[in-house]
Amino acid sequence: MNNMIVELEKISKYYENNGLVRRDVLNEISLSIKAGDSLAIVGPSGSGKSTLLNILGTLDLPSSGILKIKGKDIQQFTENQLAEIRNKNIGFIFQLHHLLPQLTLIENVLVPTIPLTDKNLKKTSMERAMNLLESVGMADKINQRPGQLSGGECQRAAVVRALINEPDLILADEPTGSLDQDSAEQLGELLTKINKEQNVAMVLVTHSIELAKRMDAIYKLDHGKIERFDIK
Ligand SMILES: Nc1ncnc2c1ncn2[C@@H]1O[C@H](COP(=O)(O)OP(=O)(O)OP(=O)(O)O)[C@@H](O)[C@H]1O
Ligand SMILES: [Mg+2]
Repeated sequence: MNNMIVELEKISKYYENNGLVRRDVLNEISLSIKAGDSLAIVGPSGSGKSTLLNILGTLDLPSSGILKIKGKDIQQFTENQLAEIRNKNIGFIFQLHHLLPQLTLIENVLVPTIPLTDKNLKKTSMERAMNLLESVGMADKINQRPGQLSGGECQRAAVVRALINEPDLILADEPTGSLDQDSAEQLGELLTKINKEQNVAMVLVTHSIELAKRMDAIYKLDHGKIERFDIK
């Protein structure tokens, strides 16, 4: 049990519009993610994929059910503790990179390390950032701002930023959604490599079946339920 990273137990989520109409998005979903797991979540638009990912990442709270991170029920944490756990353990990648336009590449990548106070940790982060940027072929672009980078480069930068604090889990919502086919393939390769070589668990939401197939398991979300989907 000690290699469990996130566990969902009968997680439901519904939204109410002015307290009138209730819309059930997730219906008693149970799922566990262990160290090094990789899974893709597919499903129609509006089926709740982003909602599920946000709950996995504690960015959103379920309406009912239990969410455990490394064996601990998240209800026992304060909002500050949760933010710290999230920052240390989870790396997020979105469809649009969310890089800050006024910061350079290297500054953007180091944003998640700002809360770190330890000087040695800061130094290690800088070295780690340089190594990671080197590995994605962007070491010569560290002083460029996002406006001076291509879409594919921005997404690779977002991957590096997600990895900077050595998370146990990467959550990616349509990471290749804004990319052309070549850049999408390159990013898919990078994500697979990270998952295998660094044993980082990965959950990615995607409409791309090519990307989904790179993961060890594919789950389909529909009508609030999730089921294993085999296309391999
Ligand atoms: N804050 C909110 N308030 C009310 N309804 C919401 C809210 N957030 C999401 N929803 C609804 O929940 C449903 C699921 O949304 P979600 O964004 O999770 O879908 P998705 O599967 O990620 O879709 P897509 O593939 O288009 O990104 C949608 O019907 C959406 O309108
Ligand atoms: Mg979505």
